[in-house]
Amino acid sequence: MKSYKITLLPGDGIGPEITKVTHKILDLVSRKFGFEIKFKEMPFGGSAIASDGIPFPDRTLQECKNSDAVLLAAIGDPKYDELPREKRPETGLLNLRSSLNLFANIRPVKIIPSLTKASSLKEDFVKDVDLVVVRELTSGIYFGEPKGRIKTEKGERAFNTMTYTSKEIKRIAEIAFKLAKQRNQKVCSVDKANVLDVSQLWREETILVSDKYKDIELTHQYVDNAAMQLVRNPSQFDVILTGNLFGDILSDIAAMLTGSIGMLPSASLTTNGPGVFEPVHGSAPDIAGKDKANPIAMLLSSAMMLKIAFNETQAATYLENAINEILTEGYRTSDLMSNQTTQQVGCSQMGELLAEKLK
Ligand code: IPM
Ligand code: MN
Repeated sequence: MKSYKITLLPGDGIGPEITKVTHKILDLVSRKFGFEIKFKEMPFGGSAIASDGIPFPDRTLQECKNSDAVLLAAIGDPKYDELPREKRPETGLLNLRSSLNLFANIRPVKIIPSLTKASSLKEDFVKDVDLVVVRELTSGIYFGEPKGRIKTEKGERAFNTMTYTSKEIKRIAEIAFKLAKQRNQKVCSVDKANVLDVSQLWREETILVSDKYKDIELTHQYVDNAAMQLVRNPSQFDVILTGNLFGDILSDIAAMLTGSIGMLPSASLTTNGPGVFEPVHGSAPDIAGKDKANPIAMLLSSAMMLKIAFNETQAATYLENAINEILTEGYRTSDLMSNQTTQQVGCSQMGELLAEKLK
């Protein structure tokens, strides 16, 4: 029997609740499709600060490196907002990304037909949305040097550096073009080339890469315009290629097209080594422990994992279809409630309904 090793990082806030559901569902799916998944839970984020004193302990890194895939729920806890930057949960996440060299962050945004009413945009605008944000994840302003804060005679000064090398731009552009080839043959590269030197290089390198992909249409948008286009006419997009910071912002905007950020999965990938699969949403401390969280983004992230990391495409599709069915039947977590014809359920009940479908 095929067997896969997953490092499970439940993290903080609603993380443990949605992890519990996901673990149970993956057990059922693997049994049904005749493979085995071995899970190992490790501390990460705020919960690791509590247990190990740091957000990303070395034992967690080693375990991640030794697995076939990493499944992460969410991190972040206002309790740790006052800690110095290197000790905060978010720094743990950035370290995880750079230690595993996860330069390619893939965030698909696809409308689920039964949910068009949950979007804050009019149904007609969102019903055909099917796009993917390809976000560079291990460079740009998130990691650029120099950075820091210095005290000067005139007061304090703080700075970060937005930097990309040709090589970094080329390798993420390649990912976007390859993806567009399997999809609708369009790449829209988003930058701020009217102002930033780093974006000028971004644009030049993207055009060079596009020479190899004659069938793919490459367009460029400035990031401010792209933000507007995402809410004005989102179905124009197929693959959006962009850097770390712009991708962070645009993927949150794109998420809302689906009605809730609680629906969006992601994959963070490298050329050779385990990927990290995680929902786009955060740890939602305001609803943590209240059984209100939406587990679907994490479940869809595990479907991405089944497909991309394990090549278990059938199992992934089966899981995605089961989720669609539950939503079509009208079951919703509170973030997705739009009208009275739907029935509100909690996180654990959502898991139970799904488990029934998968038996
Ligand atoms: C994301 C998150 C992270 C990011 C934070 C938690 C560091 O917002 O994955 O989009 O900014 O990349
Ligand atoms: Mn973000």
